Amino acid sequence: MERISRYEDLITPCFILNTEELVRSIHGYQNALNNLFEKSVIGYSVKTNSTPYCLKLAGKEEAYAEVVSYDEYELAKLCGFEQEHIIYNGPMKSKETFLDAVMSGAIVNIETKRELAWLYELPQNKIFKVGIRLNINISHISPEDADGDNDNSRFGFSDDTMEFADAIGLIVSLSNVVLDGLHIHRTAHSRSLRFYKKSINYACEVIKKYGLQLNYIDVGGGYFGIFSDKPTFQQYSDTFYEVLRQHGLERLCVIVEPGNALVASCYDFLSEVIDAKRVESECWFITTDGSRNDIDPFFKKSSYLNEELYQVETPVVKKQIVSGCTCLEYDRLYTLTDRPLLSVGDRIHYKNVGAYTMCLTPMFIRYIPNIYVREIDGYSLIREKWTAEEYIQKSKI
Ligand SMILES: Cc1ncc(COP(=O)(O)O)c(C=O)c1O
Repeated sequence: MERISRYEDLITPCFILNTEELVRSIHGYQNALNNLFEKSVIGYSVKTNSTPYCLKLAGKEEAYAEVVSYDEYELAKLCGFEQEHIIYNGPMKSKETFLDAVMSGAIVNIETKRELAWLYELPQNKIFKVGIRLNINISHISPEDADGDNDNSRFGFSDDTMEFADAIGLIVSLSNVVLDGLHIHRTAHSRSLRFYKKSINYACEVIKKYGLQLNYIDVGGGYFGIFSDKPTFQQYSDTFYEVLRQHGLERLCVIVEPGNALVASCYDFLSEVIDAKRVESECWFITTDGSRNDIDPFFKKSSYLNEELYQVETPVVKKQIVSGCTCLEYDRLYTLTDRPLLSVGDRIHYKNVGAYTMCLTPMFIRYIPNIYVREIDGYSLIREKWTAEEYIQKSKI
């Protein structure tokens, strides 16, 4: 691994991983659950940040891998997860990986009707366990947390139609399959305790309605992480326990699948100014070698936790629009007002950018950047940037 001792010598653009922060988040949530529940599982949401180094570390810290496609399933195995430590969700399972997962003891939450059909192909000489995802319409169960007046979902089987009942009926009819758990993931914008109170309460009512004898409830993701004015892991855990206890279901194993809450805060991003242009008497465009694609691939963020690192003193200017390196006119990150003028070689450090960023960065004009891991005495490269050579691998030219 290439080593760099000084922060100033990191090659930009790059992500910087703080492993202590990731471990602190995993342990923080695990301890919060352990305080109340006999059995609980932290599922590391692979889609949120699929850096192999992080997957390996999460596994070492006893998190399971929560995967949502056959590719992520293979990735988790390559990064050292035994099938028993994989939670397999989502519609993008292949028949082969679905059957492999069910037969080798992974936690598999059925999402589609084709998976129900695949159950018929399991061997008859053994009992296999599966879970199923319940459809949640946030407007129905917790209107205060809903986005609009019909915050429905395209995931899970609905108990508002006959689809949940039919799916349960099919599973129950199979002598070699038992229903082991219920999955209820939704991320409400509020990420509020109230939402979990209501969604888990709804799940408990459905469990009772069908007399389901389950071993786990998978409450999915959707939690705040580091913000001091937001609910803590302990408050989320207390809420789950309180609702489950009201229904006599507190003995269930609770599975959580935090994405943002585990991996946002452990990643920073560093970019460098490569040009400064004055386009109006009071307005400068600052071009950096990072892009909004790197840290806001949905182009939705309105602010960042950023800091400008100046090399020399410069005059204060009215307006600077800090922009990315792409040829997209709208690749603009933020505006600085009445601040010293940034110049070539200055750097911008962004914090809290590990969630839904690097795993979604398009291969647009420049390929995926370096990732360094911070160590006591420097930095090591844990993923080298891709060049055109990596880009054309497996392509015919
Ligand atoms: C099934 C599932 N679990 C967990 C997550 C993680 O959600 P969050 O990042 O809001 O915690 C997602 C995100 O879409 C998801 O679809």
